[in-house]
Amino acid sequence: MDRYAVVGNPVEHSRSPAIHAMFAEQTGQSLAYERLLAPLDGFEATLRAFAGAGAKGCNITVPFKFDAFALAAEHTERAALAHAVNTLRFDEGGWVGDNTDGAGLVNDIQRNARRPLEGLQVLLVGAGGAAAGVLGSLIAARPARITVVNRSVDKAQALVSSHAHLGVPLAAATLADAPLAQDIVVNATSTSLAGAASPVEAGVLKPGTLALDMMYGPKAQAFLDWAAAHGGEPRDGLGMLVEQAAEAFFFWRGLRPDTARVLKALRAAL
Ligand code: ATR
Repeated sequence: MDRYAVVGNPVEHSRSPAIHAMFAEQTGQSLAYERLLAPLDGFEATLRAFAGAGAKGCNITVPFKFDAFALAAEHTERAALAHAVNTLRFDEGGWVGDNTDGAGLVNDIQRNARRPLEGLQVLLVGAGGAAAGVLGSLIAARPARITVVNRSVDKAQALVSSHAHLGVPLAAATLADAPLAQDIVVNATSTSLAGAASPVEAGVLKPGTLALDMMYGPKAQAFLDWAAAHGGEPRDGLGMLVEQAAEAFFFWRGLRPDTARVLKALRAAL
């Protein structure tokens, strides 16, 4: 049976095994998907042992997405742009690294939340690894403009500079200078981990703004409550999680699972 895993530290709360088990059942694929805890100083050794045992690939979560990028012999275009890898395929000729986070976010916004993205004003809050992983895919959906705001504005500027050639107007600003009345606001900061509501002022919202936090479960709640209280349409990161997993499944198996069914099952179990 083909083996896959999610590799991280910590990894015990990952929902990826449940998601991929549902995908495999739906599509009639025979595969095993496990959790693999890698020591902080032992990521490469963990991967090599797993691949050496005949595994076909893995997902990578915090804090190893940059290490995974370095270990891949080849990168997909979107992984190269993000400088981070969340999906590896152990091909015989060398490991291929992909990054499905951005496509996961965009597919969730477009298909599940039914917002076109094209022609819209998008605010990306944060400029760390999570934001870097999705900016290229957001650009590919051709919004009218994307503004990246961050507590350290130099990181927002660096992120914008590395994506400036892709043909969508980009701007960088401080959190306090975030533009008002956006169509879509994506929170890619880790502030919700600390239970904070929103790193930006409510003026970024207008009635119906899609306000998405990449977190899900109790961690996302303060941001979702803030968005709802100011007229936005709150959305957590569960849809993105399922959609990025579906992109990884496609990268490995060449099949597209029905994500809506899986999202519904996961939501019911949350
Ligand atoms: P991740 O991989 O989750 O993106 P990261 O690379 O450490 O983690 O990035 C964390 C993001 O959350 C950054 O945008 C960070 O802002 P800085 O670049 O200025 O550090 C943001 N962040 C973390 N704590 C924050 C806080 N208390 N207020 C505002 N932004 C915060």
